[in-house]
Amino acid sequence: IELKRPIVSANMDTVTRADMAIVQAEEGGLGIIDRGYRDGDIGPQVREVEIVKRRQHGVITDPYTIAPGDTLAAAAARMRESGVGTLVVIDGDRQLRGLLSERDLRFVGPDGRVSDRMTPRERLVVHEGVPSTGTASQLMVRHKVKKLPLVDADGRLLGLITAKDLLRQQQLPFATRDGQGRLRVGAAIGARGDYLERAAELIKAGVDVIVIDIAHGHSVVMERALEGFRNRFGDFELVAGNVATAEGVRFLAERGANAIKVGIGPGGGCTTRLNTSFGVPQAQALVECRAALGPDSAIPIIADGGMHRDGAIVLALLFGGDTVMLGSAFAGTLETPGEVVQKAVLLPESQKPVQVPFKVLRGMASLGAIKDRLDIEDEGAADLQALGLEGMEVSVPLRGSARAVIREMIRHLCSAVSYGGAASLPELKRRFRDDPERYLIRQSEAARRESYER
Ligand code: XMP
Repeated sequence: IELKRPIVSANMDTVTRADMAIVQAEEGGLGIIDRGYRDGDIGPQVREVEIVKRRQHGVITDPYTIAPGDTLAAAAARMRESGVGTLVVIDGDRQLRGLLSERDLRFVGPDGRVSDRMTPRERLVVHEGVPSTGTASQLMVRHKVKKLPLVDADGRLLGLITAKDLLRQQQLPFATRDGQGRLRVGAAIGARGDYLERAAELIKAGVDVIVIDIAHGHSVVMERALEGFRNRFGDFELVAGNVATAEGVRFLAERGANAIKVGIGPGGGCTTRLNTSFGVPQAQALVECRAALGPDSAIPIIADGGMHRDGAIVLALLFGGDTVMLGSAFAGTLETPGEVVQKAVLLPESQKPVQVPFKVLRGMASLGAIKDRLDIEDEGAADLQALGLEGMEVSVPLRGSARAVIREMIRHLCSAVSYGGAASLPELKRRFRDDPERYLIRQSEAARRESYER
């Protein structure tokens, strides 16, 4: 899966659900729906994937249909339920018979038949086979139509292209799309319990990539999970993680991961290093893992966690990441899941309280996230304390759409490429790899303060 922009939103239950995944894919990145659901509770995660996949189409391969002999009342009901304004009329053999739109139902009684009001096949602009986007828009402009039904050589319905979808595609030239023009989306699963059944349902719903995401990916549990996954789903696109060492990244590569998530403990909501003293500083982890895979490996590294300034994104990409995964950078944006809560905040100058809207960001190993996943509301307080938490919960002020955040990140990344004297990110990466000393400056404490404290 190729991304035009190297940004992935983290599979955290306060960061990525359908709304965030849609914005990420529209802007050229990818969202990974989190796995913060109770064991066996698969439907809600599948629905998030379906929402993203149904959002935009190139070709709608399963448009809503109706039969010519059905009543207009049935057609009206189908339009209401599905929320679409045009039904494709087909007979029992899937032969295209016509199109019926909301307009055709105006001022007529409910008892008539679809065949009385539809625009029949002879008067439609129809294309045999699946056209390119360019051909489809040319046909629509020339014939002044907004819907283009597609049929096979025998006249059976193959799909539908709408002007609205084509326009959307033109407006979003960087979007991450699948072969049918739908936005791409990923979803995370664990390594035990319902993980294979969950993966099966997600794949059925059209998910583009599965992420086996566990805190310690260089482990027997992961090995078994990868084997189970490959046995059941063959070569379906799979990301595995997290690891942070050369050994770890080789371990996952040898076991068939298509991409690897690197990062143990750098995350914003993460207390793993504080609580366990395990983890690897992220720059070192990226350099080691990239060196272990080799610069031209077909397996991309997703640099996961710890980028709190936009400037850290280019660092992660230069040190070895092919994409970055971000959680707290998107906290507080409109597209994050969760309620907005009003909190009283004291204005520093006047000391007057004002109500400010906040959203919650929490680590996936925080008390709140674990409680929601494990259904343990009734456990005693002492038991909860003994869970071995490795994440925190913080409130972040609400701050507009993630789209603006992504666009600003990209502008800053482009500036960094320019400061680095390169014409593209791959070129900057090459220059950096060939001669890192040219770019790296050892900083004193005073230099660090001058650079980052404002
Ligand atoms: P940022 O820094 O972008 O990092 O917020 C996002 C990444 O942090 C990881 N993550 C956690 N790590 N305990 C951890 O040790 C947690 O509770 C936790 N929650 C998220 C995860 O890799 C995510 O992508």
